[in-house]
Formats: sequence, structure tokens, C-alpha cells
Amino acid sequence: MKKVVSLLVAGLCLSAALAHTQTDKLVIAHRGASGYLPEHTLEAKALAYGMGADYIEQDIVLTRDNVPIVSHDIHLDTVTDVKEKFPDRARDDGRFYALDFTLAEIRQLHVNERINIDNGRRVYPGRFPAGKAHFNIATLAEAIELIQGLNRSTGRQVGIYPEIKHPAWHRSQGRDISKIVLKVLSRYGYNDKNSRIYLQCFDAAELKRIRWQLKSRLKLVQLLIDPRFKDPYNQTDFAHLVTAKGLLEIAGYADGIGPWMPQVVRGVDQQGRLVQTDLVKQAHALGLVVHPYTFRADQLPENIASFEQLLGIFLQQVGVDGIFTDFPDRAVNFLRAPAN
Ligand code: G3P
Ligand code: CA
Repeated sequence: MKKVVSLLVAGLCLSAALAHTQTDKLVIAHRGASGYLPEHTLEAKALAYGMGADYIEQDIVLTRDNVPIVSHDIHLDTVTDVKEKFPDRARDDGRFYALDFTLAEIRQLHVNERINIDNGRRVYPGRFPAGKAHFNIATLAEAIELIQGLNRSTGRQVGIYPEIKHPAWHRSQGRDISKIVLKVLSRYGYNDKNSRIYLQCFDAAELKRIRWQLKSRLKLVQLLIDPRFKDPYNQTDFAHLVTAKGLLEIAGYADGIGPWMPQVVRGVDQQGRLVQTDLVKQAHALGLVVHPYTFRADQLPENIASFEQLLGIFLQQVGVDGIFTDFPDRAVNFLRAPAN
């Protein structure tokens, strides 16, 4: 079955290898083409490439043997069969941590569509069926080699968009994830502002450290989130960061911001009027690019009739510089349509 999936992906890639957006707006494939295949698998990345994405995202956590792997969570139980394969390896909180498993062990796991850990139900029921085909977790190096290899064979220049996940939590476990990730990126030629990469993180202190102490010259993106969201390991003041003073601070160490969609457009009222913030205007005035997340065709905001309407609001009316989306084909098609 795995072979069937690989062939399918390869076929889609070949048929669309030269497809890419013609505008300066970036289509960032969020966890790959995760609307169609399990998130962060190499298959989802290849499909996103074939669909014409400009950048492909990699969320990064560490294994027990310090290998950066592409996975959204520090836990393995939301997207893999770790519970069945290693039933006695949970911590006291009942969760299975990537950091407690070697890469060799993680390679034994099968990746599935994400489940809600509280009720065991699929987060996106309409997506790729459970228990079909075999998907695995990839290392950061493998994900890069796939994209760089396709760049070589197609002549395109698709970028990577890694996110350092939970750096302070990793530090609390005695690990320096940023140093390890920067080393891998450098090994693959990502060293300065001209490199086809944006490096993102929610943790402002860590991004400053990456810029000033670790002396990275890469393009950095400060991720933003609803200030009501609390992470005990991230002391970032998200309410402050969206103020004029906060944005000025960001411009001192980063090249862009990655806001949560409602921080840009609060919504559309019942009369169809857009309720937007001035975040994009202020960020642009400081030279920061704006790449909001996450655009999902199967999870539309209230009062939005279609995915294309949502794309039009952000890309045309508000004028963001790019978007993170689980459905890169839909965004590419939107941007390539003559009227857009
Ligand atoms: O990195 C942009 C977006 O992916 C942030 O949200 O939770 O999907 O990593 P998350
Ligand atoms: Ca991310």
C-alpha cells in the first residue's frame, strides 16, 4: 500500500512539477498538504511540492538521541500508534514524549490522521482514512533532502519553513533544540537572509537568542497567538507583541510575523462587512512580512461562505504576504486565476 501512495504522490508531483504561484504572495504548505495526507509525512510534503507550494513547513521536536524530527507535538500519541507499539513507555501524565524515544524506535511508528487525545476522535473526520497505507515520521534532514532533491529535479526553488517547538520545555529537559536545529540547517546550506527559509517560533526570548546569541542570519518569524492561550514554558507576552511598541521590538530581531487569523481579521459581520485590525498595516510600516495561519477548507470561520472567499479577504483585501494552509492546491489555484 505504501508503494501505491508513493506512486500516487510521485504522479501528482510530475504532473504539476512546474506549477507554482506567479504572484509575490507565498503559499506555505502547513505541515505539508495536510488536508489530504497525514500531517508532516514525506508523502504530504511531496504532494504539497507537486501542488505548487512556495514554502513547506516543518514543526521540529527532538528525539532521545537528539535528532530533530518533523512532528507538531512533543507527544507522539496524537498522530502515531505509539500506545500500541510501546504501551509501557508513557510518563506519569499518561503521555508518550518524543524525547523519550530514540530515532530507531520512532522509525517503528506509523503515522495517522491527528486525533483529539481527550476523546480519541479524529480532529478532521473528512480527511485521509485511518489505518490505510503506511506513513512514518521523518527527520528534519530527510524532509530537507526531499525538497532540495525536488528543487534539483524540477528546477524550482521551493523553500522550507521550520518551526522550533517548545524551546523552553526542551531546555527544561536538558536539551538545546535551537542549537541542534541551526546546525542541521547550516549543513544543508541555510545560512543567511538569501537562503530559501523562514525560521519560526512562538517563543520571543528564543528568537532573540537565535538572532543575538546564536548569531543566526536567517529570516526569522515571530509567531503570535491569542494572549488567552497559556503555555507554562513560554513567557512571551503576546498581548504586548501586537501593540505598536511590541511590533517595533519584533522588528529588532525578526523579519516577519505569523499571526493567528483572527488577529488580522476579527471576522465578517452579518452584513458581510470585514472587521479587521491594523496589525498588517503596522507590521508593513516596520518592514515585517505577515504570514497568518491556518487556512483550512474544512474549518471555515463564521460567516465565511467558501475557502476562496477567505483567501480573497486575506490575500487581496487585507494584503498579507503569504498564508499557511493545509490546502496548498486551492491557494495556488486562487492566486493563479487570471482575475486574481
Ligand atoms: O507555524 C504556523 C502555525 O503552524 C502555528 O501553529 O500550532 O500549527 O504550529 P501550529
Ligand atoms: Ca507550525
